[in-house]
Amino acid sequence: MKKKSICIRPAKTDDCRDVFVIISDPVVRQATFKQRTISWDEHQRWFQAALKNPDRLLFIIVGNGNTLGMLRFDIQKKYADVSIVLNKATRGHGYGPQSLQLGCDAIYQLTEISNYRAYVRTGNISSYKAFAKAGFVHKGSTTIEGAEAGIFVYTIADSTTNAV
Ligand SMILES: CC(C)(COP(=O)(O)OP(=O)(O)OC[C@H]1O[C@@H](n2cnc3c(N)ncnc32)[C@H](O)[C@@H]1OP(=O)(O)O)[C@@H](O)C(=O)NCCC(=O)NCCS
Repeated sequence: MKKKSICIRPAKTDDCRDVFVIISDPVVRQATFKQRTISWDEHQRWFQAALKNPDRLLFIIVGNGNTLGMLRFDIQKKYADVSIVLNKATRGHGYGPQSLQLGCDAIYQLTEISNYRAYVRTGNISSYKAFAKAGFVHKGSTTIEGAEAGIFVYTIADSTTNAV
């Protein structure tokens, strides 16, 4: 498969359906902590609320003009929590780590937050590997919704970005 050139852009209302298709995939549901099915109505409400929330930033991952996935950043005071989903056909080609780097750089430039944290369900090997490849470091474990999760952290140093 030829490597796609990818980019990220802020999500907009029209992305709601594409994101719903991606997050409804059984592998993605398994990767979440609640693991329950999300209805279209619930997703629409969540997506519209997320777009209006100044502390939650959604980016669409785009390759060759197609939606490949989504990054979500929840901005806390001194760090941002990050989560990522890619559509099925896009997984396993290194786009996850690449997108995480693009996303963290974008958040750094927008907010100057330089610390990032992700919770990855124990057993989600591809996610563990993807966060590690993006430069995140595994810093212990915690329990979320009764499930064990690895805590991954990443800090951007000024010299690693194009920030002015
Ligand atoms: C987790 C995710 C973002 C990783 O992104 P990615 O682009 O697939 O990551 P990579 O291509 O770097 O793959 C990471 C590792 O998982 C393996 N992998 C990923 N998808 C795979 C698949 N479908 N089948 C087999 N191996 C796979 C890769 O081979 C790679 O292993 P390697 O480093 O030994 O080569 C993506 O797989 C995804 O969206 N998964 C479903 C949702 C999810 O789990 N999100 C994370 C929640 S915290």
